[in-house]
Amino acid sequence: MNNLFDLTGKTAIVSGASSGIGVEFAEMLADQGADVAILARRYDKLKAVAEKITAKYPERRIIPIECDVTKENQIIAAVQKVMAEFGKIDILLNNAGIVDSVPIEALEEEAWDRVLDTDLKGVFLMSKHVIRHMKERKYGRIVNTASMLGLTASASIPTHSYNAAKGGVIHLTRGVAATYAKHGITVNAIGPSLFKSEMTENTLFSEQALKMYNAVCPMGRPGNPGELNGAVLYFASDACSYTTGQTLFVDGGWTII
Ligand SMILES: NC(=O)c1ccc[n+]([C@@H]2O[C@H](COP(=O)([O-])OP(=O)(O)OC[C@H]3O[C@@H](n4cnc5c(N)ncnc54)[C@H](OP(=O)(O)O)[C@@H]3O)[C@@H](O)[C@H]2O)c1
Repeated sequence: MNNLFDLTGKTAIVSGASSGIGVEFAEMLADQGADVAILARRYDKLKAVAEKITAKYPERRIIPIECDVTKENQIIAAVQKVMAEFGKIDILLNNAGIVDSVPIEALEEEAWDRVLDTDLKGVFLMSKHVIRHMKERKYGRIVNTASMLGLTASASIPTHSYNAAKGGVIHLTRGVAATYAKHGITVNAIGPSLFKSEMTENTLFSEQALKMYNAVCPMGRPGNPGELNGAVLYFASDACSYTTGQTLFVDGGWTII
């Protein structure tokens, strides 16, 4: 059997790759043989990630591109740059995201917009500008980072804007998947529960929060570094040629109870 997970010769874009799980995804794609463009707002961090991966794989093209996913003009410029460098885009990981935990009665419109613009509109805009290139070649793998909070809610942590955005990502994934299924493009999502990153390390990884999480999570622990990579690689590879519109919750069993 051919190695269904081999990404040699593939090209990818990963948004939100300046910190957290996006860095792991970029490294994993390079491990599997892909050239990777990494996008985020903090260019210095992207550059450091690119240098680290390039040191490991000097033959890979790892391109850091400063891009705010809430700004369509920046996305258009970023996609043009990737096309100029790689000539094609096989894989798009829409991973950039932010969170907010303010109860709805105190949530300012501007704060709501910030989360929805980054977490949901960002997925729309990135997909819009990449999918036309995938359609031309009748091949594409889009993987959206949703969240278990796109399916479940929390009584103790009021992440209302985030719930709305990630729930939107899950259903946007289905809609885009249905429309582009006949064009050789699959669109799937992952739904992580809790992984250590800039987003979570000072809040959900506090001793008290972790105790609460571990008491509910069937596996009794948060995810470890690398434990999202299998799901992302499946959706990014030829292994998922007949799987589309799905969200795989990588959550230690959180969403089954
Ligand atoms: N960690 C978890 O437990 C967990 C669970 C469920 C879902 N997620 C999702 O996983 C994704 C990655 O988060 P993380 O946990 O790895 O947190 P993180 O370390 O804070 O990473 C977030 C990434 O998104 C980028 N980003 C934020 N706003 C952006 C914008 N407007 N334009 C471009 N890039 C932007 C950040 O880079 P810049 O600041 O440099 O722009 C950073 O690279 C998010 O979508 C998050 O919702 C995480």
